[in-house]
Amino acid sequence: MSKVLVAFGSLTGNTMSVAEWVTETLKDEGHSTEMMDCADVSSPKGLCGPYDLIVLGSPTYGDDPCEVQEDFEPVLDALESTGVQGKRVAVFGCGDSTYTYFCGAVDMIVDRVKECGGNLIAEPLKIDDPHDDHEEEIRDWAKGVAAVA
Ligand SMILES: Cc1cc2nc3c(=O)[nH]c(=O)nc-3n(C[C@H](O)[C@H](O)[C@H](O)COP(=O)(O)O)c2cc1C
Repeated sequence: MSKVLVAFGSLTGNTMSVAEWVTETLKDEGHSTEMMDCADVSSPKGLCGPYDLIVLGSPTYGDDPCEVQEDFEPVLDALESTGVQGKRVAVFGCGDSTYTYFCGAVDMIVDRVKECGGNLIAEPLKIDDPHDDHEEEIRDWAKGVAAVA
């Protein structure tokens, strides 16, 4: 059993729903899970410390350049100080494929995780609006993450 943190930002609730399905699935697969809305994180320092696996999720806003959701931004900016180095990490996000950079925030997070020495254990999950058409895909992805957690 691994200790898992699912930390996400969400403006209109889509990424929050995905985070809930991911958290629930990881729990059903036998892991100890905690879900955290980045809006409630007062200081990102040491955030990842107590966990074996970190699952990070953000939608994409802006367009050119892409941006992560604003509550997620302080966590991304301070990622090195969260203690992500050497941790197992998986990344997901919601977006809309009619934009130029579909789920650009997911790519930004992946790049930062690599720069900070996190170990990505799964292909990043990019969910196109409407997210609730993709519940099965999301749960399957979370099962894959759970299997290597
Ligand atoms: C102003 C605005 C800009 C957006 N820019 C992008 C973008 O560049 N790329 C993308 O994939 N989706 C983009 N989206 C779509 C959102 O990421 C998508 O609707 C997502 O599901 C919202 O997630 P949330 O409900 O968790 O906030 C944009 C949406 C808005 C309203």
